[in-house]
Amino acid sequence: MASITFIEHDGTEHAVEIEPGKSLMQTAIDNGVPGIDADCGGECACGTCHVIVEGKWISTTGSASEDELQMLDLTPERDDNSRLACQINTSEAMDGMVARLPEFQM
Ligand code: FES
Repeated sequence: MASITFIEHDGTEHAVEIEPGKSLMQTAIDNGVPGIDADCGGECACGTCHVIVEGKWISTTGSASEDELQMLDLTPERDDNSRLACQINTSEAMDGMVARLPEFQM
């Protein structure tokens, strides 16, 4: 089974199994990973599912849409590898991926 590791701002790690096709946001929520609020339920409308994908893994997450980029512009801790977790569909290719959580969601 493929897995992804979420790392909280304080360094706490959460390794969770992937269900391919499920969003990265839903994967975190379903596994009790703290730090993702997902206030809009995955509609790319709140920006509270911000994650920072580590290094080379950003290429496996696909491209952000214009709507996602606009939401990311509003996040205070934006990084070059920032994504909204609700806009990433997980896949087996993400086995080993690391996603860091910002200190605060907006
Ligand atoms: S859950 Fe609202 S933008 Fe991702």
